[in-house]
Amino acid sequence: MANATAPGKIILFGEHAVVFGKPAIAVPVFQVHALATIEPSREPGVWIDAADLGRRYDMADASADDPLGTIIRLTCERLRVVPEFFKVRVQSTIPIARGLGSGAAVSVATARAVARFYGRELSADQASALAYQVETLHHGTPSGIDNTVIAYGQPVYFVRGRPFEAFRSAEPFSVVIGDTGVASSTRVAVERVRCGWEADPQRFDALFNEIGEVVQAARAGLEGGDWKTAGSLMSHNQRLLEAIGVSSPEIERLVNAALSAGALGAKLSGGGLGGNVIALVDKAAQERVASAWLAVGAHRVIVTRVE
Ligand code: PMV
Repeated sequence: MANATAPGKIILFGEHAVVFGKPAIAVPVFQVHALATIEPSREPGVWIDAADLGRRYDMADASADDPLGTIIRLTCERLRVVPEFFKVRVQSTIPIARGLGSGAAVSVATARAVARFYGRELSADQASALAYQVETLHHGTPSGIDNTVIAYGQPVYFVRGRPFEAFRSAEPFSVVIGDTGVASSTRVAVERVRCGWEADPQRFDALFNEIGEVVQAARAGLEGGDWKTAGSLMSHNQRLLEAIGVSSPEIERLVNAALSAGALGAKLSGGGLGGNVIALVDKAAQERVASAWLAVGAHRVIVTRVE
């Protein structure tokens, strides 16, 4: 038997513009995770049990774009082994389609578990590269930030196509994560932004540049322990995400409730159009924001500490 886990993630600053070459900052969220377990079986072939989706199937019957079938196939190709005589069970506490990186976490956990089943260990870089290939099935032009932050399990300052930079905040800080309850597709959100950019490249390029500047200033704020500045940059980032068309009334309800409850800043995180909202908080506001969100209908609230 072999198993492996991978955490969820949030994007603190810079989603969407990161697809267009701007920097972004993401951190892992260890309160939620995907778990892949592999057991040997007597039967030839590979049996997949996607427990959360209520689906059990033979890998041979999986469609070419099936994410679990694909990550198992790619990992076995990388290890130069023929996948057979095992059962894979995948479970995840990361809600699907809420911007918390559930797809990338499932891929990373499964790739690592398959490697362990064959007595091997994947490096973070190898796990990230394999998961990236599956991310391209979810939406055609992933920046690679999800698979990177999840495979490395540490805060990243990320620019597409470059090795990521590790960054450390001056001190640990807290982020409250609230689920709007609205499932949203990253593919749809990314396509919407691309259509906007095609229709008005000048306006969108200016917005992406401004997001890039916010991300750089936010990195300096976090590294310098200037939480107030980092918070107001988070809210500034939210206004820019509204301008590129990926916010929603549910997101704005949570953003406004967080600010009224004393958050230093708040924004959507991930693809948007639903999913999760994040708020940067000091100790005093943490509980107030969590309660305010539950009062306005957030489906789930997590407090995470960024170390
Ligand atoms: O997978 P999500 O919903 O967390 O979105 C990832 C972030 C985007 O910038 C919207 C897309 C990408 O590939 O970077």
